[in-house]
Amino acid sequence: MFTVDLRSDTVTRPSDAMKKAMMESPVGDDVLGDDPTVKHLESLMAERFGMDGSLFCVSGTQANQIALMSHLSPGDQVICHPYAHIYNYEGGGIAANAHASVAFTGDDRGIMHPEGVLSCLKADDIHFPKSSVLAVENTSNKGGGTCYEWEEIEALRAVASKNGLLFHLDGARLYNALIAKNHSESDYGAAFDTVSICLSKGLGAPVGSILLGNEAFIAHAKRIRKRIGGGWRQAGFLAGAAIYALENNVDRLAEDHAAAKDMAEFLGQQSWVKKVVTPETNILIFGLNEDIDQEAFISTLAEKGIGISQMGPGKCRMVFHLDITPAHLKEVKSVLRTY
Ligand SMILES: Cc1ncc(COP(=O)(O)O)c(C=O)c1O
Repeated sequence: MFTVDLRSDTVTRPSDAMKKAMMESPVGDDVLGDDPTVKHLESLMAERFGMDGSLFCVSGTQANQIALMSHLSPGDQVICHPYAHIYNYEGGGIAANAHASVAFTGDDRGIMHPEGVLSCLKADDIHFPKSSVLAVENTSNKGGGTCYEWEEIEALRAVASKNGLLFHLDGARLYNALIAKNHSESDYGAAFDTVSICLSKGLGAPVGSILLGNEAFIAHAKRIRKRIGGGWRQAGFLAGAAIYALENNVDRLAEDHAAAKDMAEFLGQQSWVKKVVTPETNILIFGLNEDIDQEAFISTLAEKGIGISQMGPGKCRMVFHLDITPAHLKEVKSVLRTY
């Protein structure tokens, strides 16, 4: 459909080497606990993060929603950023699945701060919703691929621990943050109660997310996943792709970050661009001058074979990923130069 598809890092297609790894993966019935490749993926991730266990899920949305269903009782409150994927882009799942309410805090980069979280906390009083979960998104998608500093994570962890909040990480693009900030998987595993990670974004697997947590949580999460129809049988073919992605596509995320920076510099020089958010990872957000209609701009680029997306008014989005080549970047620039 598009010659250059920058709408999302979910558009990647499995490489020949990944397909080979998938087809060679031994499989079994995962609902019966028999799929050796799924088991291998789940133990590999648990080991990397130093957590008790992990569960291979269909999507990031499924992994986040399972965590929220497990952590929240009806009427409880989850504290998250107003940009949070769990609130904005998961079909109202906080309400529909967990029957919970939301309190928002955070800055315009998609980052949450301890003072803001403290101001969202409700006193233990029957009039108020019970504050039960603090959910962080790293990197922040709508924030423009922004990442937390380690000290910021530690400060939020301290607030969560002190106030009895379960600490969940929507780490759909956590590996981008780990590469950009040189942070470690095990530090994240120690800081959070539960973590969801997408294999199907910048890492290039076709399907799948991992949900990490302690033993009791994973047992409960498996039950919830089954209840919502997420028990899958010979899922080892997909787990094989995920393992291949983890072994081959993590370090190269730095190339996507460099491509985003390069394009940001280019856009900063164009007279019709009003604002470019300096990218920290693979997501680049920019706004157009007032006289340009955002929808029309995106459609014009689409007619020229270039796919980009938007995240609300003043927020055009390009996402860089492993199917984007230097020739693609050249082509995008040559089209944009004549805009
Ligand atoms: C931050 C974040 N969390 C969760 C998800 C959900 O992932 P999925 O599309 O696999 O449901 C996304 C998808 O874009 C995301 O950006």
